[in-house]
Amino acid sequence: MRMDTKLLEDLNAQLNREFFASYLYFGMATYFAEINMEGFAKLTKNHAKEELEHAKRIYDYIILRDEKVNLLKIDAPDTNWNNPIDAINAALDHEKFVTDNIHRIYKDSKEKNDYPLEVFMQWFVQEQVEEEHLFQSMLDKMSYIKDCECEIVNIDRELKIENNYVE
Ligand code: FEO
Repeated sequence: MRMDTKLLEDLNAQLNREFFASYLYFGMATYFAEINMEGFAKLTKNHAKEELEHAKRIYDYIILRDEKVNLLKIDAPDTNWNNPIDAINAALDHEKFVTDNIHRIYKDSKEKNDYPLEVFMQWFVQEQVEEEHLFQSMLDKMSYIKDCECEIVNIDRELKIENNYVE
């Protein structure tokens, strides 16, 4: 079943957004490594790998639909964060941006009666709930203790232990 031209264009743009997200989180991992926050660095590097998995999922799906994958230019992320809270805030903002785009593609697939794409996009709709929760809950925790840097160091230590399993 071939896809509507606009839907395909949007799906290729989402593929690019997932690659960009990976690039952004690698940038964040670099930032955290530079300020010696090893736990945050591990979390964001693991997340960068997850984003590549999201991209691969879309890539494979476009091929499965016998359509053309269009690899677009990946922009360099802005990595000038002032502190860890600032960086995690940027992560949450980015996830909200991705959610808006996922919702739009999901809505368009419904309106254009592309049932296979609608079902495919459901995984991403759910995934975005988890992605936003990850960064929102972290931000809530960090905002609460923002006046005491030693607490950020404790969170970093916890993250280092939690994120070791991937490597
Ligand atoms: Fe693939 Fe974090 O959205």
